[in-house]
Amino acid sequence: MKEQLARNIHNYRKEKGMTQEELAQAVGVSFQAVSKWENAQSLPDIALLPQLARTLETGIDRLFGYASFDRSVTIYEQEYRNSGYYWGTEPNSACYEVLKRIPPVRPLKLLDVGCGEGKDAVFFARNGYHVTAFDVADAGIEKTKRLAEQARVHVEVFKADILDHRLDEHFDIVFSSGVLHYIRPELRSEIFENYKAFTNAGGLHVLNVFVEKPFIAPPPEDEPYAYSWHSGELARHYHDWLLADSSEIVFDCMSSGIPHRHAMSKLIAQKPDSSS
Ligand SMILES: C[S@@+](CC[C@H](N)C(=O)[O-])C[C@H]1O[C@@H](n2cnc3c(N)ncnc32)[C@H](O)[C@@H]1O
Repeated sequence: MKEQLARNIHNYRKEKGMTQEELAQAVGVSFQAVSKWENAQSLPDIALLPQLARTLETGIDRLFGYASFDRSVTIYEQEYRNSGYYWGTEPNSACYEVLKRIPPVRPLKLLDVGCGEGKDAVFFARNGYHVTAFDVADAGIEKTKRLAEQARVHVEVFKADILDHRLDEHFDIVFSSGVLHYIRPELRSEIFENYKAFTNAGGLHVLNVFVEKPFIAPPPEDEPYAYSWHSGELARHYHDWLLADSSEIVFDCMSSGIPHRHAMSKLIAQKPDSSS
């Protein structure tokens, strides 16, 4: 295993055209440490593996020499492989709320949770936010990167499952549209506590969730791993923040080519400023 890892770190580093010093700096170790890894004299600390893999633009499983195994998490992986943009390239109207309420007049870090094909993440980057985004669909990540390239902006985008990923750096804004129903109910409190804890004082969460309503038929997409929310449930996670908006809408939808309706809870919440 040591040899396999050593070879892969070396190969991926070379592929990226990085020196041992550059890799060491990106991961926060000495270049002697990198040299030892590549000579199979030592193994990287387990806590360094995510950053190491991200820097080398590969997966931890690949570093260890395994082909990645993914259960098919999202029905959108297939849709995103088509050449067009399934969700279009125009930003969600909620993006303008971010712009209005917390404009990028100073450097602001924004996280787009479940960025899809990147229309919102790229919009934010074009408007001057420092954008990080993740999604579980490889094809969505590729399209996000492409859209960012076309717009000549940078979006830090990576693959992650919302169920596994927790924030370990602070953001000013957490944005998510059409994604949070993939969080299993028993994980919601923990995940929202993490998102809230890693938001700077005065920061904003702009989110929406699909909610169950007795008068709305279930959506036609037969999505595994999707769990609707109840009315008011999202706002309860934010009882200790300022709620700037907590409203519900019903709208028509044509996804999967079948006309149907969704009920959605929208939320804009601001973390109290420590000085107030
Ligand atoms: C309805 S789309 C919304 C995409 C994007 N936010 C937008 O508005 O264009 C739902 C997104 O959630 C992603 N997704 C599904 N399950 C996920 C999971 N477990 N972790 C992260 N993303 C997930 C899908 O790949 C898809 O891109």
